Amino acid sequence: MSDEVWGWVRAAKRIAVLTGAGMSAESGVPTFRDAQTGLWAKFDPSQLATEEAFRAKPSMVWDWYAFRREMIAKVEPNAGHKALADFALRYPGRLTLITQNVDGLHQRAGSRHVLALHGNIADDKWLDPPKACCNAAAAVAGSPPYCERCGNLLRPDVVWFGEPLPLRALAAAEEAARACDLMLVVGTSGVVYPAAGLARTSAGKVVIVNPHPSDLDDAADAVLRGTAAQLLPQLLED
Ligand code: OAD
Repeated sequence: MSDEVWGWVRAAKRIAVLTGAGMSAESGVPTFRDAQTGLWAKFDPSQLATEEAFRAKPSMVWDWYAFRREMIAKVEPNAGHKALADFALRYPGRLTLITQNVDGLHQRAGSRHVLALHGNIADDKWLDPPKACCNAAAAVAGSPPYCERCGNLLRPDVVWFGEPLPLRALAAAEEAARACDLMLVVGTSGVVYPAAGLARTSAGKVVIVNPHPSDLDDAADAVLRGTAAQLLPQLLED
């Protein structure tokens, strides 16, 4: 651990943290773009993570998300998730946690007010704007579940390619980037915008935690080559 970066953490009054799939890799959740193990190495995102794909093959897409939901339900937050949650508890108001992850592991580790830019895989929402008859609790079980009256389908409440990010979470993340003294960018390839752009608009120093090169390395004041579960506890301890 670099003493200089440790000093930046100690001195920072407002820390923004942007996390990606690598944050959860040591919990056993596959990333998207790692060469052998990444989900997008095995599956075609255009067939699984777009509204068009869901409309064309709702059952196949629903089942893929159901499989990921089951897998995520079996894993636990790792030492990196816990270090972030513990730091925020010790220093209320000092850390804003922004995540691209839909796995809910930050929340399960105890982090509050997580800005979940890409939604949460455990939640559903209606595919088409809900009518009065659309009641998720009464949806007919199926793959996917649907409204008995109008046939509207439930879909996972995640952001698919081509869809806008949740406005309020994105605005809060942009504000946190503008206002921070330090941004930790953990476990993201930095190729998906607008999330990756937050690192480029950070008012504070940018520190990357990633065992491999990322597209954001050029925006960094320091790059720590290591994993989230190894480095975050060291970086955030008192
Ligand atoms: P990626 O799969 O693109 O990148 C994961 C990053 O984590 C890589 O840079 C790895 O080197 C790094 N990594 C792997 N293991 C790590 C570890 N133990 N500790 C720290 N870093 C590690 O995932 P994201 O950048 O999150 O979008 O991908 C961004 C978005 O693309 C995702 O949110 C998802 C995907 O399509 C949506 O679902 C909308």
